[in-house]
Amino acid sequence: MNLYDRIPNNVNLSEDKKLQRALEKWLPNYLDWWREMGPDGFQEKDVWLRTAIDVGSEGWAHFDYVKMPEYRWGIFLEPAQPDAKVGFGDNYGRPAYQEVPGEFRNALRRIIVTQGDTEPASVEQQRQLGKTCPSLYDLRNLFQVNVEEGRHLWAMVYLLHGYFGRDGRDEADDLLQRRSGNPDKPRILEAFNQPCDDWLNFFAFTMFTDRDGKYQLSALAESGFEPLARTCKFMLTEEAHHMFVGDTGLGRVCRRTAQLMKEGDVRELGGIPLEIIQKYINFWFSYSLDLFGGEISSNSADFFAAGLKGRYKEQDQYTDHLAANETFTMTVVEDGELKTREVALRNALNEVLRGEYVKDCEKGLARWNKVLKEEGVSERLFLPHPRFHRHVGEYAGHTFDLQGNLISREEFQQRQSEWLPTLEDREYVRSLMHPVYEPGKIANWIAPPAAGIKGKPFEFEYVRL
Ligand SMILES: [Fe+2]
Ligand SMILES: [Fe+2]
Repeated sequence: MNLYDRIPNNVNLSEDKKLQRALEKWLPNYLDWWREMGPDGFQEKDVWLRTAIDVGSEGWAHFDYVKMPEYRWGIFLEPAQPDAKVGFGDNYGRPAYQEVPGEFRNALRRIIVTQGDTEPASVEQQRQLGKTCPSLYDLRNLFQVNVEEGRHLWAMVYLLHGYFGRDGRDEADDLLQRRSGNPDKPRILEAFNQPCDDWLNFFAFTMFTDRDGKYQLSALAESGFEPLARTCKFMLTEEAHHMFVGDTGLGRVCRRTAQLMKEGDVRELGGIPLEIIQKYINFWFSYSLDLFGGEISSNSADFFAAGLKGRYKEQDQYTDHLAANETFTMTVVEDGELKTREVALRNALNEVLRGEYVKDCEKGLARWNKVLKEEGVSERLFLPHPRFHRHVGEYAGHTFDLQGNLISREEFQQRQSEWLPTLEDREYVRSLMHPVYEPGKIANWIAPPAAGIKGKPFEFEYVRL
């Protein structure tokens, strides 16, 4: 592990001078981007952060005070498996690819660029949140997520520089040029152009949108292109914390709301009503579903066939890694009606991955509903139907209610304000967001966490202001 190199890495960067020079050229541009688009303020403050100093179980979670610009962004891959094989598709069982297979070069670059683009985008979306944090504990978690998303960008840029030559370098430069929500040079995926300017958005984003990342990375972590697989495996260890932040964050908001419901009117008491929480769930869940791509997709079939992108837990969950002869029953809209259609399984793999994601999200809902039950309120939260409010795939261009029934555009427009956050809802939530910077104190609209970070109490000074 070359931790004290300019670019900490475990890929023997110093032995590949060309790659090292390319990355060293990119580094100052990255730092400029971080200064311009990373967290607004707080850059000179000590933050109690987890830094990866090794990929082994000992080293990957080293906790100490760090100033964010001094965070050790670097390139960490899981160790190579000596005789790694392609785990699925038409080349199943052949040696894993150490170079990009020629015919898939463009498609693979597109996958890496699209994944890479989400990492800085989320940092941009969240850059103002430090100014309204509900506690120092939450402020620290926000910054932890931000620096790790920065590192994930490094991981993808390493692949672009290392395996895609000139166009890879150009793509790496462009990753620092696009800006979340900028109409002239937006980020690639729509969920990453949506504003994330209050903490309810942040928790819903880390719950639902970072969780999409988990499923994309999991599918790529078993890729037959070994450098990609090893990169994604390590990113997943960090990603787990991001989802923890969202999941427990929303759970804590639910707990506080339930407590206030027993005392009186939640709004008058300065809490977030459950209806608003439900609307934020509807919004971020539906945008995150779009990230999996079209329900019926020849790209997904080609990628599976090539052994590049598999299913979730391909090795553990399946015995037939060819998936060549099976079909999948899909619900589609035809002549203004919902109808079923048989699709070759390989063409349905986006939907298969989305199904795994939905199951995982259901578990989060069950945890929040358990909190509501513990607090003695009878209302429950739920996930909208996956057809609701979609902008990508079979259901885009049609309108559905929360139960997935096809409805007219007029009806959707009439009822939209019951289902999705209105301007007024957003303004109300924003009106509650006042920073709490005193150790051990917490905003009124959220309950404290059950425990602190890494054995430290909630009262710990997670950020020295
Ligand atoms: Fe990430
Ligand atoms: Fe993340």
